[in-house]
Amino acid sequence: MIRTIDFEDLTKCGSIYAKAFPIEYWGIDWNDENATEYLKDFYEQKKFVGYVCEENGEILGCVFALRKISGSKEEIYINEMAVLPERQGQGIGKKLLNAIKEYSDENGLAGVVLYTSEYAPASKFYEKNGFKLSEGTICMYL
Ligand SMILES: CC(C)(COP(=O)(O)OP(=O)(O)OC[C@H]1O[C@@H](n2cnc3c(N)ncnc32)[C@H](O)[C@@H]1OP(=O)(O)O)[C@@H](O)C(=O)NCCC(=O)NCCS
Repeated sequence: MIRTIDFEDLTKCGSIYAKAFPIEYWGIDWNDENATEYLKDFYEQKKFVGYVCEENGEILGCVFALRKISGSKEEIYINEMAVLPERQGQGIGKKLLNAIKEYSDENGLAGVVLYTSEYAPASKFYEKNGFKLSEGTICMYL
């Protein structure tokens, strides 16, 4: 079942997130606490939109997104997605993504946008779900 995220779900989402983004692969030392704090920051934003996938009372995956004004339009940005490693590749991510797409359609939003690593396998997942590469966008840092 896909349902909207409640405050009580954040600890479990943080734990899933820390497992889905291991330091060996991503180089960031996520743990249950800092991941929960990170996701809570999204949850507390006024235009937050988020869903969990729950089966028999257990949360298996989550998506954290945000509505954003872009001139006269409004888009939805996916900030984070994570599925329990042992449940990946079973269609849970697709269901969570579909919930965001449906939200976007039902609310007349202009589209769904996300940033991900060029080298992460997740980009293939997004491509399979219809996402296209944005030309001409670069990421800079100081
Ligand atoms: C990316 C992620 C959210 C996808 O959720 P999921 O439940 O595993 O995805 P689904 O089962 O709905 O879809 C899997 C499809 O995407 C493809 N895919 C690409 N990368 C994948 C990956 N890392 N894991 C699983 N499937 C992946 C598979 O080939 C599969 O296609 P198929 O059904 O034609 O075989 C999940 O794998 C995850 O949490 N990964 C680690 C964290 C991450 O990368 N988050 C997104 C960063 S922006």
